[in-house]
Amino acid sequence: MKLVGVSGSLTGHKTAAAVKQVLHAAQKADPSIDIELIDLKDYDIEFVVGKPLALYNEDTQNVVAKIVEADAVLFGTAIYQASITGALKNMLDHLPVTALQSKVVGMVSTAGSKNHMLVAEYQLKPILSFFRAYVATTSVFLQSECFNNTNEITNLDVLLRIETLANEMLHLHHQLNP
Ligand SMILES: Cc1cc2nc3c(=O)[nH]c(=O)nc-3n(C[C@H](O)[C@H](O)[C@H](O)COP(=O)(O)O)c2cc1C
Repeated sequence: MKLVGVSGSLTGHKTAAAVKQVLHAAQKADPSIDIELIDLKDYDIEFVVGKPLALYNEDTQNVVAKIVEADAVLFGTAIYQASITGALKNMLDHLPVTALQSKVVGMVSTAGSKNHMLVAEYQLKPILSFFRAYVATTSVFLQSECFNNTNEITNLDVLLRIETLANEMLHLHHQLNP
């Protein structure tokens, strides 16, 4: 099983740290799985302009291929203007409509304010449902206070929830693909 985590923030490092933590929790629970972090800030993803995927740059094609080939995908977003990041939405816009079909997906979001803890639920989940993915019922929200100044997650409740999300994604994947 290949579990890919996508971090959709091009600015700081909290979202990538949270996605990485879920990937590692999943690998700890099942050492046989392969994990890969796709931090969108490491890739030059072009804006969707309506041309065939083959005409976009190599990074764009590679990232789409990694998501298409993954067995399960964890999406991480920072909250920008009470929504998901434009970088993540642009990435999702590149995906063929079958890219996530019948795959288990998870959501992680980071924000400055706890007022935006349900943004992923209300704005990212409908997109993942459009792709006909199975969205884990557990999602993880991290406020800036959950991190120390080197972007390590220090909040124990959040670390537990991360484990719960990782376990739920593995459980759902194995139930759906016996
Ligand atoms: C352009 C921009 C818009 C933001 N909008 C919000 C917002 O609406 N609500 C909020 O709680 N935090 C907002 N933030 C704060 C980020 O969501 C928060 O710092 C997040 O953890 C950053 O993640 P990162 O370190 O992975 O970039 C915003 C940050 C930026 C840069």
